[in-house]
Amino acid sequence: MANPATDSRSEARTVSSVIDGRPVGDAPAGRFRSTNPAELDDVVADVALGDAALLVTAARAAREAQRAWADVPAPVRGRAIANIGRLIEANQRELAGLVTREIGKPYPEALGEVQEIIDTCDFFLGEGRRLYGQTVPSEMPDKQLFTFRNPVGVVAVITAGNFPVAVPSWYIVPALLCGNAVVWKPAEYSAAAAAAFHELFCRGGGLPPGVFNVVHADGAATFSGLEQALDAGLVDKVGFTGSTEVGARIGELAGRHLQSACLELGGKNPMVVTANADLDLAVEGALFAGFGTAGQRCTSLGTVICHESVHDEFLTRFAEATAAAAVGDPFSDVLYGPMLDVRFAERFEAYLGWIGPQHKVLGSTGIGRITAANPRAGFVGDAEAGLFYHPTIVDGVRPGDEIFGQETFGPMVGVTTYRSLDQAIELANAPGYGLSSSIYTNDAREAFAFRRGISAGMVSVNNSTSGAEAHLPFGGNGKSGNGSRQSGMWVLDQFTRWQALNWDYSGRLQKAQMDVAELTPDLEFRL
Ligand code: UN1
Repeated sequence: MANPATDSRSEARTVSSVIDGRPVGDAPAGRFRSTNPAELDDVVADVALGDAALLVTAARAAREAQRAWADVPAPVRGRAIANIGRLIEANQRELAGLVTREIGKPYPEALGEVQEIIDTCDFFLGEGRRLYGQTVPSEMPDKQLFTFRNPVGVVAVITAGNFPVAVPSWYIVPALLCGNAVVWKPAEYSAAAAAAFHELFCRGGGLPPGVFNVVHADGAATFSGLEQALDAGLVDKVGFTGSTEVGARIGELAGRHLQSACLELGGKNPMVVTANADLDLAVEGALFAGFGTAGQRCTSLGTVICHESVHDEFLTRFAEATAAAAVGDPFSDVLYGPMLDVRFAERFEAYLGWIGPQHKVLGSTGIGRITAANPRAGFVGDAEAGLFYHPTIVDGVRPGDEIFGQETFGPMVGVTTYRSLDQAIELANAPGYGLSSSIYTNDAREAFAFRRGISAGMVSVNNSTSGAEAHLPFGGNGKSGNGSRQSGMWVLDQFTRWQALNWDYSGRLQKAQMDVAELTPDLEFRL
């Protein structure tokens, strides 16, 4: 199979912000090199970084373009989404190859990620012909009531790089479809994938200049640019995917402007393995959710909460499967590749420092970075060239341990035990996140008791914590988000506002609640 990324491995792309249809030539905040985390000397993109002022300029361009875009009939906007989906489909392998090269996600997973954009376009292209409002009966004659969905206006979208193209599409596709203009700030370390995504959207959709702008900037410049743009009344909605800590600051900032941000934050996603569970199925789920994308999904498995009667057996099988899994070159057949970027590798090293003497570590031939001196049996490729880490199962985690309570973005899974299902649910909710969750059971009562008790926005039964489909509500509670939901029809409420219209054609003032006809009931009647 020709490899779309290695074919173009030698060239580093020059990436710059695009505002009002024009690339921004200068780099007021310097340049950033986006590198291949599986091969650190492969520079994927040379990125011109913008400053806070550039984000404000982009928001102003979006503001100017938005009204005319909202005036394009919704079915025509739906056609634009259909055509974006087609163009992405025609470029699926190339875009997936770029994603794998830039952030190290295994190529089949990257193909799946691009498929998620296509699925999202497929869902929303019909919404252009459906963006329903309602006709509602009035209490009075010669009067009609209606509801309309109006676009919110300018949407600022800030996304992480672990799903550098799928997750942005969850915001950008419905935002555009609903008639909003967009300013997107992708992660610096996935700038090349972002630039390709932006170009495919603009060309495929035939989008007028200013409708979809992209700004490359670091976190600090983005935050202060967003603050200035909100102060100037140039942003009406903020969408953010990233850490709980930054999400809380964004939510606070939006709240000061009486806005509620759409927040998709971290998770400490639990998997309960009950006494009657199919253990092989649970092991397969734990392996995929714990170590797929090197544990760097917001839906990654945090802690396995295992019934004490099956703990030893589960742990043995899980450790064996983990030890046997292929780790390495993401263009080969591996469970997972490198960390996304050096900052994630450094942070993961800090999380490994949370392992204490009370814990038992399993799953590999070492802990930490995989090197010649700290090898992983069966490693695929050249470990020293990239940011590869041993898979780490930490048995014996309990409330009070940092590993139990905090998200540990990376290839690390905690294991603990429970006695009663109530206790399992308490342990599952204890960290205070609430994104995804899973239970392996063959007892319907246990499955539904778990569903009722768990605080998570997403629940899997006999399936892992990862792998949400593109048309179900995606989002979390507690430290995972403020209750906003993406995907499917539920996301429309993020990017539109309901407007109520009443139209009285009686020719007189009819007062609601007062000028209403009365029928006389006979409430004393008894059979
Ligand atoms: C994320 O990590 O931000 O359910 C999104 C999943 C993917 C999406 C994850 N479809 O794992």
